[in-house]
Amino acid sequence: MHGMQVELPEGHLVSPERRRLLRQAGMVALFCCLPRTLYGAVAAQWYRETIDVLQMTYANEFMSRERYLAFAQQALKEGHANIAHLFAALAASEAVHARNYRKILQALGVKAVKPDVSAIKVDTTRDNLRYAAEDELAEVDKLYPELLARLAPEGHKDAIEKVEWSWQAERQHRELIAQILSGTGIFFGVLSEKFRQSSVRYFVCENCGSTLIELPNEKCPVCDKPVDIYREIKRVG
Ligand SMILES: [Fe+2]
Ligand SMILES: [Fe+2]
Repeated sequence: MHGMQVELPEGHLVSPERRRLLRQAGMVALFCCLPRTLYGAVAAQWYRETIDVLQMTYANEFMSRERYLAFAQQALKEGHANIAHLFAALAASEAVHARNYRKILQALGVKAVKPDVSAIKVDTTRDNLRYAAEDELAEVDKLYPELLARLAPEGHKDAIEKVEWSWQAERQHRELIAQILSGTGIFFGVLSEKFRQSSVRYFVCENCGSTLIELPNEKCPVCDKPVDIYREIKRVG
């Protein structure tokens, strides 16, 4: 048998040595590539609902980030530097959420789909604040329990944890916006002036997006990471 050549259907001649090498290469490919492909296929099936939820939350967070950045620019144009600062902090937090979801999707072998940001509408700063409070954050207590209920059966721990983190951060956002919005209406100018004079600082946890006006003592109250994971948000403009 040694030295014998085998004719392939295409007419190529392959020596036994070459066949051995090809077989070895095939085994390597089998061990290296197949499990990966298989993992992707199994994950896509096993975590089908989780992937749907993650795509949705990724799109929402991405959109919120873009919207808050646009709102920050609008606030600057109107001379509300402190409100622009708040919107910049919210945008930074949403960016952390979007990144967290994108990473999980990536680990599941799925590409995160970016939403169409051209639908973002920017109004006056007063209306933008109302939009953020009423349309975007009002549903927080309804939407997140629904998302967590959808995630529960497949039990993807990382996805569940990140949705819980986002939920807590969105509540903080709602609080921060409510603080400026309370009693606005015709008094908006007066209140924003008052807000303009105060020097609020914003800190965002780079791990979970928690958004605070004071650094916590030791650990992030949302994700438990040591406090040095927090980044202070620079004022814009
Ligand atoms: Fe968020
Ligand atoms: Fe955190």
